[in-house]
Amino acid sequence: MSILIMGMGYVGLTTALVFSELGWKVTGMDPDERKINSLLQGALPFYEPGLGTLLKKHLHANMSFSSDPKTAVQQHSFVFLCVGTPSQTDGSANLGYIQQAAEWIGKYMQEYKLIVVKSTVPIGTQEKIARWIQDAQPLPIPFDVISNPEFLREGTALHDALSPDRIIIGSNSEQAAEQLKQLYVKLDCPVQITTPKTAEIIKYAANAFLATKISFVNELARFCDKIGVNISDVSEGIGMDHRIGKHFLRAGIGYGGSCFPKDVKALLFTAKEKQAQLTILEKVFQVNETQFLYFLDNLERQLASFQGKTIAILGLAFKPDTDDLRESPALSVIKSLVEKQAVVRAHDPVAKLPSTFLSDKVIQCETIEETVSQADAVILCTEWPEYRKTNWGELKKRMKQHYFFDGRNVLSSEQMSAWGFHYQGIGNR
Ligand code: UDX
Repeated sequence: MSILIMGMGYVGLTTALVFSELGWKVTGMDPDERKINSLLQGALPFYEPGLGTLLKKHLHANMSFSSDPKTAVQQHSFVFLCVGTPSQTDGSANLGYIQQAAEWIGKYMQEYKLIVVKSTVPIGTQEKIARWIQDAQPLPIPFDVISNPEFLREGTALHDALSPDRIIIGSNSEQAAEQLKQLYVKLDCPVQITTPKTAEIIKYAANAFLATKISFVNELARFCDKIGVNISDVSEGIGMDHRIGKHFLRAGIGYGGSCFPKDVKALLFTAKEKQAQLTILEKVFQVNETQFLYFLDNLERQLASFQGKTIAILGLAFKPDTDDLRESPALSVIKSLVEKQAVVRAHDPVAKLPSTFLSDKVIQCETIEETVSQADAVILCTEWPEYRKTNWGELKKRMKQHYFFDGRNVLSSEQMSAWGFHYQGIGNR
């Protein structure tokens, strides 16, 4: 059995390398020749711990790459769709890349294919993909389209894909579902076989629920600020109840990344289309949109004004262990500070600010020391471990004023205050 993975983004490349590791022959296909050429040289197109080692291990053995859809489709029995489904301005998912991939499959297939959809797609897309394939076929050849959503997280992609909590298979054909199950036979986790539509909604519901937990705790943090209670203690206390669970209860400046913001919007868009209401999710979105503003308002009050102040931003990526800036709250914070005429000095261990952000008022520094030099305040936006390990007592001497705003509640309030900082997190006043 040979596997073709279309789309060499996070999900595609991780899935390809995980199947190689599980012993299957895999080809990764992407029309972007530059990406394919660099993968063929063993270079990852993004930062993700552990993936580079796996690429070097399997390259030219189990794992090969191609930018030619025709031979790629013809030479493989399983075709996984892992292409992007970015948000459009109205919140709906753009299915352009999915449609293109489906048309290639229809046009080039010469025998039965099992097509597996891993991209996060709106409810009902499996049916559309089947139609697009059929419409592109010069002659009718049988195929199945299965929905098999992916739940991996950036930063821990490899671990998540090799040790998943569950595998969801949405298929109209029992036989096709069994064939797909065989690919995962070495993984020890429950497998749920269901309908394609159910599998599609499971993916959205999982992300929407996790986003709900975060917005819930973020709004509760605002309340904790009012009543003088520490939100981290509340999260710890409620998280010990196994019905609630301790994960995704960390308050902060809001969720970002390529999934939660996009998937929440896409689900709200579909609900509107179907004239259904997802009231809770509407609020989840609103809380997240305003969380960094709530934080900045508090800071502005303390500093009297941001105008002319030098603010050090620690962390640009939407979370640690990735260089991904998509929907990163740090970027919203920087935009807002620039509007308020502050001078921004930013740092991230791996992520780089896009050139459109850089100016004489916004610079990216190489080291933490350089970033905080002459700063009036520090805003920690991403909880990279190095920020926790820094000797802030020492670095304080480089700063002009000693305001420290911890947007991820990761430093010790007691220790920072003992070092003489005006320290503030979220929900811990
Ligand atoms: C998410 C899902 O977790 C994953 O299952 C899905 O396949 C893709 O989307 P990812 O976006 O990589 O994964 O990161 P995740 O760890 O879920 O974090 C998303 C955002 O939520 C980050 O901005 C993170 O900082 C934030 N977050 C997470 C919080 O603010 N508080 C928390 O307690 C947890």
